[in-house]
Amino acid sequence: MSGRFITFEGIDGSGKTTACSFAAAWLRKQGRSVEQTREPGGSPTAEELRSLLLKSQIEPRAELLLFVAARVENIVHTVAPALAAGCDVICDRYWDSTLAYQVGARGLDAGLVENLRSALDLPEPELTILMDLDPQHPRLSQPDLLDDDHLDNAGLAFQRRIREAFLDLSRRHAERYVVIDANAPLKQVSGCLEAALSERLS
Ligand code: TMP
Repeated sequence: MSGRFITFEGIDGSGKTTACSFAAAWLRKQGRSVEQTREPGGSPTAEELRSLLLKSQIEPRAELLLFVAARVENIVHTVAPALAAGCDVICDRYWDSTLAYQVGARGLDAGLVENLRSALDLPEPELTILMDLDPQHPRLSQPDLLDDDHLDNAGLAFQRRIREAFLDLSRRHAERYVVIDANAPLKQVSGCLEAALSERLS
């Protein structure tokens, strides 16, 4: 039996990484084997591409291709083997991040991304959880969220465009999306997450 492919999306600092670990622990409690991965990253070469992407100013089309290159590495070496072995895979970001950041916020052509996506024919997630956070939420002003990644420091208007792009994707693909209100107190967020996982995956 093939595992289930679950992706998490959201703006920088939206709590995706904590939510991914929460979901992995929840699935393990249900007796599932789980592989947790992230994009960019998740395989040795993809992690090298991540360091490059997070520390360098890269021309937007070249940046897009590097995100996609890291994705192919992660899928081939980590995601696909785990799914084939029957493990559930939790991936922190996937194609929808490319649509939100490179198309929605940086203004690249959606057709370019869609052409790459259909030509590469990578697995589609069966569930995508959007951690929806207002970019002006006080949590985002904590200094530990502002490291020196140029991608994280891209400004309020940029983060707003990304949030809108994710919300738009969640409306267009309502069958695979669950939107979690990440503005709520932590306990409420984890309660909503647990309810969503149990409804969609049990
Ligand atoms: P992370 O901090 O959530 O791991 O993501 C790293 C950064 O990479 C984040 O600012 C979003 C960005 N990113 C893109 O711009 N396009 C993509 O396709 C992916 C996967 C991430």
